[in-house]
Amino acid sequence: MNTPLQIAIDGPVASGKGDIAGRLAKELQLTYIYTGAMYRMLALACIEAGISTKDIDSVCKKLQQITISLMPPSSTSIHPFVAVLNDSDVTERIFKQDVAIGSSDVGTIPQVRQWMVARQQDMAHGKSVVMEGRDIGLRVLPNAQLKIYLTASLEERAHRRWLQFDAKGIKKTHEEVLSDTKLRDHQDTTRVTDPLQKLPDAWELDTTGMNQEDVVARIKEELIKRNLL
Ligand code: DC
Repeated sequence: MNTPLQIAIDGPVASGKGDIAGRLAKELQLTYIYTGAMYRMLALACIEAGISTKDIDSVCKKLQQITISLMPPSSTSIHPFVAVLNDSDVTERIFKQDVAIGSSDVGTIPQVRQWMVARQQDMAHGKSVVMEGRDIGLRVLPNAQLKIYLTASLEERAHRRWLQFDAKGIKKTHEEVLSDTKLRDHQDTTRVTDPLQKLPDAWELDTTGMNQEDVVARIKEELIKRNLL
């Protein structure tokens, strides 16, 4: 059996990880695993139960009571995955702002991270995957053949998020989106357990000013250069 090709993509909020990982997985016929969705589903379960996403004991208890899974998309799906929480499709709901902030909160809890990492390693075991998140190269797939640190300037990332909100008819000022992006960056990079960081063995790709096609093409070039394609 050929060795599975495993690509880890880490990076800050709105660095384009999701779109890039989804496209890359489709083009190379690899399984796409969006780990942020798992933290988001836990946050959603807490919000729906009226639990604060900062209340460590209650969040850990909730984690034991729920089932979360990521399924392949249907042919009409606009997202490259379907997020299922307790048998309900929550794919759209997990992108709402309250869930986004809550997911960054639950991601600071070491017991939650331990549980997520074990599940994610099971999901990737023996498979060719593109997996994206914050701790993939560090913790989930430390032996990935290519570890990418995908980034872009804070201003461009905040602008990309503003455009996404605007497209959905959600009215927010640029300042609001910028300050919320900064808050999530701060929380993701300063948490005690496995903070987001550029690993010494990661390849950094700054996507400021690049479109998605160019980014995917650049990654494929790098895979070829490393004899991985
Ligand atoms: O990738 P995302 O923005 O959808 O992730 C939402 C939150 O989940 C993010 O702010 C931090 C947390 N997360 C994490 O801690 N580790 C991961 N591997 C993925 C996400």
